[in-house]
Amino acid sequence: MNILAPSILSADFAALGEDVKKAERAGARYLHIDVMDGAFVPSLSLGFPVIKSIRGLSELVFDVHLMICDPDRYIGEFAAAGADMITVHAEACPHLNRTIASIKEKGCKAGVALNPATPLTELSYILEDLDMVLLMTVNPGFGGQKYIESCTRKIRGLKRMISDRGLEIDIEVDGGIKLDNVQKVLDAGANVIVAGSAVFGGNVEKNVKDFLKVLEG
Ligand code: DX5
Ligand code: ZN
Repeated sequence: MNILAPSILSADFAALGEDVKKAERAGARYLHIDVMDGAFVPSLSLGFPVIKSIRGLSELVFDVHLMICDPDRYIGEFAAAGADMITVHAEACPHLNRTIASIKEKGCKAGVALNPATPLTELSYILEDLDMVLLMTVNPGFGGQKYIESCTRKIRGLKRMISDRGLEIDIEVDGGIKLDNVQKVLDAGANVIVAGSAVFGGNVEKNVKDFLKVLEG
């Protein structure tokens, strides 16, 4: 099933609760929450208090994308704040199997993210343990960047790797996804679609509905 995951990084933070409710009312099922530490990526974004606040007003699946170094330090706190799924970057985790196990121990679904230039072989010995792989389609750190074209064949490669092993793992794509290129990533094999500026820049409800029309096509 194809799923839209609006990224609140591009929401109006002065009216965050309202923006989240708009996305939910329009039919979104996931909420993509980008956490940045100013070290793994150049920017800072948000943390536990914000996640806790919006947890109280939304039933959406909280899909938390950790762009932070050594995320093991905080897995318990993100789970307690209300994360349903936690995705960590392979590039940020020296002991990835342990990190994934600790996400699952906290009762959350576990994902691994790869930057655009990180090869799929990073997943060779961890794939079976994952619920989701997040392929970054821009270099992480900011919303509103341009989709990197070489990622399309990477999505295809991952799709093949997953089906060759007889697995069922979600493929999430994140960065530069708009209405005019979403069909391309779906065709390549992605099924969880992150969209930040394309959802929260402008009329949120209309944008969600327009995406869902393509996703549920
Ligand atoms: C970027 C974040 C994304 C970001 C995507 O580092 O991981 O989730 O919000 O924004 P858009 O959809 O505007 O490229
Ligand atoms: Zn993200």
